[in-house]
Amino acid sequence: MSLLRDEELAAAFDHASRAYDALVAANPGYHAHLRRSVRRLGLSGHGAGLRVLDLGCGTGASTAALRSVLPAAEVTAVDASVGMLRRAAAKPWADGVRFVRAPAERLAEAGVSGPFDAVFAAYLFRNVGDPDAVLGSVRALLRPGGRLGVHEYTLSGRRADRAVWTLVSRGLVRPVASLLGDGPLYRHLWRSVVEFDTAEAFTRRLRVAGFDRVRALPLPGWQTGITHTFVACRPHRAGEGQR
Ligand SMILES: C[S@@+](CC[C@H](N)C(=O)[O-])C[C@H]1O[C@@H](n2cnc3c(N)ncnc32)[C@H](O)[C@@H]1O
Repeated sequence: MSLLRDEELAAAFDHASRAYDALVAANPGYHAHLRRSVRRLGLSGHGAGLRVLDLGCGTGASTAALRSVLPAAEVTAVDASVGMLRRAAAKPWADGVRFVRAPAERLAEAGVSGPFDAVFAAYLFRNVGDPDAVLGSVRALLRPGGRLGVHEYTLSGRRADRAVWTLVSRGLVRPVASLLGDGPLYRHLWRSVVEFDTAEAFTRRLRVAGFDRVRALPLPGWQTGITHTFVACRPHRAGEGQR
């Protein structure tokens, strides 16, 4: 099976949206880890006066993490799947959150424009066909000095971590997902992780895309060596980066 992309992937997420919240609730630490990644952006003042973009917001788990850590920030939450987005938008949100349906590759067409003080993308980058192009657009949407937070399955490169990922995916997640009719999406999930960048490779990718102050930070629990938070900045002056 090849990886799902674009409309095919959005359709798979549309279908999976019905059970998505229940599945992630069964994943220990899912929401706490998202909040930890948001805190790692290091934004102060509860986000007052800040504009934040949640790219690939899904059913709103990452949006909720942003609102929890940065309750005063204005959040624009974007997703390509109408099913995921509908569930996100149906939740009770305080003022300052708006949802936009758009692929990450075509934000301007959907009226999403910067500058943003921060962009957060949780479990998105493995899913896009051209991560470098999306990183380039994200960089352009950030104000100089603006922060990028990426929360992503990125293996350490150690065989043991890949083995744990395969065990969790094949032994736990896929059997449940198959019963729900979401087998193809969760086969894509396993494969997209083993074929995507290691944490070290994604760090390099961020530097090459022109971000600086790039750091890869591990997450605790079973996800150590499997999931990382990446934090990076758009340089203040053109031509800076590669650090
Ligand atoms: C695994 S979910 C994560 C959702 C949410 N960020 C969270 O932390 O729970 C990935 C989301 O990215 C969206 N997505 C995948 N590729 C996309 C793209 N190219 N443009 C916009 N959204 C995309 C999917 O529709 C899905 O809702």
